Amino acid sequence: MADKIAVVWTRLGPQPVKMGTLVVTDKESRFTYEPEYAKTGLRGLGMVYPPDQFTTTISRPRNEYFDLLPPLQALVPPRSERNFQRALLQKYLASINLHPKPGFDTDWEIMIRAGHGAIGHIDVFASDEAAHQWYATPSRKGLVEISDGFGFSLKEFMTWFDDDAKALIDILGPTPSVGGAIPKLPLSIPATGWDGRIGLPTRFGDTGRIDIILKLENTATYPGLVELETLGLDMHRAAGFDVPQYWPVEVNGLHGLAIARFDRDAQGNPIFVESMYSILASGNKNISNHYSASYDMIGRALSNPRIQLVSDHKQAKKHLLQRLIMAMLTGNGDLHLENLSLIESKGEISFSPVYDPTPMRAYRIHNMLTPPGMTFGDYGDYPDDSKDATPVDFPSAWLRFIKTLDIRKNEFTSIVENLLTATRDFPERVAQLKTVPEDNKTNLQKIHEAIRRQFEVML
Ligand SMILES: Nc1ncnc2c1ncn2[C@@H]1O[C@H](COP(=O)(O)OP(=O)(O)O)[C@@H](O)[C@H]1O
Ligand SMILES: [Mg+2]
Repeated sequence: MADKIAVVWTRLGPQPVKMGTLVVTDKESRFTYEPEYAKTGLRGLGMVYPPDQFTTTISRPRNEYFDLLPPLQALVPPRSERNFQRALLQKYLASINLHPKPGFDTDWEIMIRAGHGAIGHIDVFASDEAAHQWYATPSRKGLVEISDGFGFSLKEFMTWFDDDAKALIDILGPTPSVGGAIPKLPLSIPATGWDGRIGLPTRFGDTGRIDIILKLENTATYPGLVELETLGLDMHRAAGFDVPQYWPVEVNGLHGLAIARFDRDAQGNPIFVESMYSILASGNKNISNHYSASYDMIGRALSNPRIQLVSDHKQAKKHLLQRLIMAMLTGNGDLHLENLSLIESKGEISFSPVYDPTPMRAYRIHNMLTPPGMTFGDYGDYPDDSKDATPVDFPSAWLRFIKTLDIRKNEFTSIVENLLTATRDFPERVAQLKTVPEDNKTNLQKIHEAIRRQFEVML
């Protein structure tokens, strides 16, 4: 493969500024900050690559998990056949007569076209000219009614991915990339909220609109997903977590959920966010997928003395604990490293608002207490320091976990009590769901009740 070169810019400061240059060879991925970039005082690629400390080229060998440095890899939708974003971008490439080889060649073409205006603060372009041109082009300002043509095309494409997607591509162009497995589109809506009109994501200087992510329900695979995610968001909000605004919507018979983006401020400027996956994988070569770390490891990373990830590590560790308990009580089972992000706000780094808290255990294939491999307090394991011949049980695992987090037993107990109270009406709320099949609802209620009892006996 001939070396590939791209440039990275950001709009974190008052003006777009070039951050550095990316070179990918057969063997490695290299990134070099612009000599003057550190002087801007702006964040670099990610938490683990501060510009003032990385004054020479950062190299990372390519492997089967990462071709790029993790913060950049996050801009490429995964190579799964069923990935909506990737399928849509591949159709877009074909529509401009580009037919790259599958695999990294395709990743690259996607990244240089969809890796700007995406989630977070990093904008990748083929060249500086492309960057200048993109920043200088105002977005199409208008909001359009979600027309029949658009809604229909969206629905067809959602279900089959083999539709030509022409109506979608005509309206959207190369959609900035968003991660995750559920079909979704980054769009904008009026600042006053969803009213059935949509626009393209905002650009430099846009006003009157807010950026959202529109998540779409593929009812054949996940019936009632939008209602479940709405319930998850409602429950978290009621429990006191910071949750962005959201609107359950219908687009031509398709169920969707519009969620305000927390990685943009009220003026549409990007805010620094980075997923726990990108952070941990940047610092540790053994992290190969979004569930290859225990919750204890995340907790330890939050108070790592060598690199300060969060401004208030006590608060962050408490948040992690609360999120995990809440995930269990709401049948989420999906609190993996890409569903936890850090965000910078007023110069402080902390966990981002809650996103993706869907009670996924309602679906049989996702019915797990935690994502595979993501243990807490060695639950179910036989740790080296244990003298027992039996695996660590639920109460002992929590005690071990809070010890790692340096949280006292009485604080833990009061957190559990609060979250038990906050989720008391969960079974009732599940019963009220209209689009989730009865079987799934009954299972979810049982899952909740069983976990609830496990927590109650610990009090
Ligand atoms: N409200 C939001 N603001 C900013 N970024 C978001 C928001 N919601 C999701 N994201 C980003 O988009 C990614 C995919 O969204 P998510 O809701 O996790 O979808 P999925 O269910 O497919 O995993 C997340 O990992 C996160 O990076
Ligand atoms: Mg997710």
